[in-house]
Amino acid sequence: MSAVPHLLFIDDEATLRGLMADRLTERGFDVVEADSGERALQLLDQFAFDVVITDLRLPGIDGARVIEAARDRYPGIVAIVITGFGTVKDAVAAMQRGASDFVEKPFQFDKLLHVLQKAMENRRLTSEVAYLKSQLDDRSQFGEILGRSRPMQKLFHLLETVARSNSTILITGETGTGKEVVARAIHRHSARHSHRFVALNCSAIPETLLEAELFGHVRGAFTGAVGARQGRFEQANKGTLFLDEVGTMSTALQMKLLRALQEREFERVGESQSIKVDVRVIAATNSELAKMVAEGTFREDLYYRLHVIPIQLPPLRDRRDDIPLLVKHFLEKFAPGTPMQLSQDAMRALMAYQWPGNVRQLENAIERAVALGAGRREVDVLDLPVEVQTTSEDAVAPFVDFPDSGLDLPVYLATIERELIQRSLERTGGNRNKAAELLRIKRTTLVEKLKRLGHD
Ligand SMILES: Nc1ncnc2c1ncn2[C@@H]1O[C@H](COP(=O)(O)OP(=O)(O)OP(=O)(O)O)[C@@H](O)[C@H]1O
Ligand SMILES: [Mg+2]
Repeated sequence: MSAVPHLLFIDDEATLRGLMADRLTERGFDVVEADSGERALQLLDQFAFDVVITDLRLPGIDGARVIEAARDRYPGIVAIVITGFGTVKDAVAAMQRGASDFVEKPFQFDKLLHVLQKAMENRRLTSEVAYLKSQLDDRSQFGEILGRSRPMQKLFHLLETVARSNSTILITGETGTGKEVVARAIHRHSARHSHRFVALNCSAIPETLLEAELFGHVRGAFTGAVGARQGRFEQANKGTLFLDEVGTMSTALQMKLLRALQEREFERVGESQSIKVDVRVIAATNSELAKMVAEGTFREDLYYRLHVIPIQLPPLRDRRDDIPLLVKHFLEKFAPGTPMQLSQDAMRALMAYQWPGNVRQLENAIERAVALGAGRREVDVLDLPVEVQTTSEDAVAPFVDFPDSGLDLPVYLATIERELIQRSLERTGGNRNKAAELLRIKRTTLVEKLKRLGHD
C-alpha cells in the first residue's frame, strides 16, 4: 500500500459523504468522493485505489456491485460497506462479494475508522505473509548449497522432492560443481537423516581393495585381512551411501554393485552368507557415463540402475550470477569477523573468468586472495590467481555494474550493442561482411543497425 492510502468514498447523501471525507482526510487519507455507483466504476477504471468505502443502497448500481467491480480490478483492495439499519443480511451478501467488513448506520466516525484500520492491518499482514512465502520459494540456499540463479533454484525444487524418496540418484557435473555437497544435503533432508551418511571415493582405493571396502570382508579373506570388517554398505544401513567417482570401477565390481542395488543384499569378501541392508545409494561422477556405456566400459544395466533420478549440476560459468553470493560466503568463511570487500576490478575479473574448476576453484581463489590481502579492507584484482586476472577479452561477457537507482534497459542495451558493433568493425578493419560474421548476424541486419546508429 502506498504511503498515503488512496480512498474512494461513495454515498449518494452529500452531507454525510462530505463530513466523512473531511474526517478521513484529517486522518491522512487521500479521499475521492463519488455520488453514485456509476461514477465509482468510472473512477475505479482510472485509478488504483487502496480503499473503497461504499454505501450499500445506491440508486442505480448498488454498493455490492461496486465492491465486486473493485475486487475484480484490484484483488488486494480494502473494501468496506456501509449498510442501513437492520440490513445485516445485505451486508453478509456484500461480504460474500469481497467486502472486507461493514458498518451499520447510524455510526460514529470512530467506529468507521476502527473497522477501516482493522481491515487495513489484515490486508497488510496477508500481503506480508504472501511476501515471506515468496521469499521461501525463492531462497538462496538449500542446506550448504548456495545459489540464487535460475538453474540452482530449479535444482533446489528437485532436491526437495527427491530427498523424500528412496530412489537411487546419479549426480553428474564437472569437478568442483558441488556433487558431494548436494549428496550430503539430500541425506540431511531425507527421512534417513538420523542415520549415517557414508561416503566412498571409488577412485581413491585400489581396485583390489575396493570390493572389501564396499562389502566388508572376513578374517583372512586376503593378505592383510587380519580381522573381519564391515563394508560401507553395512555402515550405511538405514542411511545413505555416497559412491563418488563411480565411473572408475572395474566391470567385475560393477556387476557386484548392480546386484547389491537390485537385491539390496551382498556377501562379505570370503564369505558365502548374504547380508541384507536398507541403504539409499547416491552415486556421482564427472565422467560421461552414457559415453562409457556406448564404449562398453560401463555396464548399461548398472547405468540405468543408478540413473533412476539423474541430477545434473551446472558449471559455474553457466550461472555467473551466483558468483557474488558465493564470493561473499567465502570471504566470510576465510576472514570471519573482518568485513572484507572485493574491489570492482576484482569482481569483474571473477565474473568474466571461465572457472574450469568451478566452485572449488573459486573458493581457493578467495582463500588465497584473503591471505594476500591480509590487513587490508579490500581484495584487489592483483590478489587473484594470475589466470583469473588475465581473462581474454573474448570471454568477457559485458559485466554490468547494476546501479542502485536502476537503469533504463533499452538505452543500456543499445549502448552495449553500439559498443560491440564498433569493436567488431575495428577488429575487421571496417569489413562489414566479416564483422557481421563475428557478430553471428546477417550483413543486412548489421547495415540496418549501423543506419539506426547514425553511420551512413
Ligand atoms: N553451490 C555451492 N554452494 C556453496 N559451496 C559450494 C557449492 N558448490 C560447491 N561448493 C564448495 O565447493 C567445494 C567443492 O564441492 P564438492 O566437493 O561437492 O565438488 P564435487 O562436484 O564433488 O567435485 P569433484 O568432482 O572434484 O569431486 C566444496 O568446498 C564445497 O563446499
Ligand atoms: Mg567430489
